[in-house]
Amino acid sequence: MLTLNNILPQARKEKRAVGAFNVANLETLLSVFKAAEQENSPVIIQVYQRLFNDERAGLIAAMTSRLAANSGIPVVLHLDHGASLEQIRKAIDLGYTSVMIDGSKLSFTENIALTSEAVAIAHQAGVSIEAEIGHVPFGDGAIELSTVAEAVEFVKHTGVDALAISIGTAHGFYKKEPVLDIQRASEIGDAISIPLVLHGGTGVPDEQLKKAIACGVAKINIATELQSMFLRGVAAELGKNGEKFMPLDLYFKPVEERITEYVRSKIRAFA
Ligand code: 13P
Repeated sequence: MLTLNNILPQARKEKRAVGAFNVANLETLLSVFKAAEQENSPVIIQVYQRLFNDERAGLIAAMTSRLAANSGIPVVLHLDHGASLEQIRKAIDLGYTSVMIDGSKLSFTENIALTSEAVAIAHQAGVSIEAEIGHVPFGDGAIELSTVAEAVEFVKHTGVDALAISIGTAHGFYKKEPVLDIQRASEIGDAISIPLVLHGGTGVPDEQLKKAIACGVAKINIATELQSMFLRGVAAELGKNGEKFMPLDLYFKPVEERITEYVRSKIRAFA
């Protein structure tokens, strides 16, 4: 498996983005993987930090590593929203090739301090690292936009490999369509040369995503749409079959196919 540094700088140069999809079980992993294979595209498989509290993150690592070994596509396995240095170390031990440390709720100075420590740990292990400035909220929380001055200072002091910026997105479904601050993204992209990351990809129209990509965004995160597609899909299949029992793999198959189609459409939109 590869690191972000193997795929993102080139993607940024070519003004395209690599999709980073949050998986949470065998079925979502398989669906995303198939989509990337069918599109012959690099892919970032990412796992939310909460899944590191039990066996899930390790099991997903084992499955991803096996799928990657049997396929010809570039694959990065990434810890999403790493909450502590312990979690960064745990991800590295489990075979993750990339991590995020999320200090975006700390003060700017504390974020720099925490991120710098995490960068040292990650780079020592040959693992790539992403961090965030400003704050992309979860749900209804307040968006704190990133500034050019902070982006420049943050990259200079931390040596991070990819920078998540806040330009108007939020995690989860939007109540009304978001409007990205493309001017801000463009100024940040002009000021720093490392790949930029956009969190909160669910529900952002492709036209806006393409404009962000033109500014230097080379990694786009998608979680909510994909995972809710899984849940809604299973519910729909159950509805169709009523009380009749069907083995799980047969229930999941059509759901997986729909997720694969969705992920393929996103990969194409980002290319
Ligand atoms: P969404 O859940 O809004 O797609 O955001 C995903 C994300 O940014 C994961 O870090």
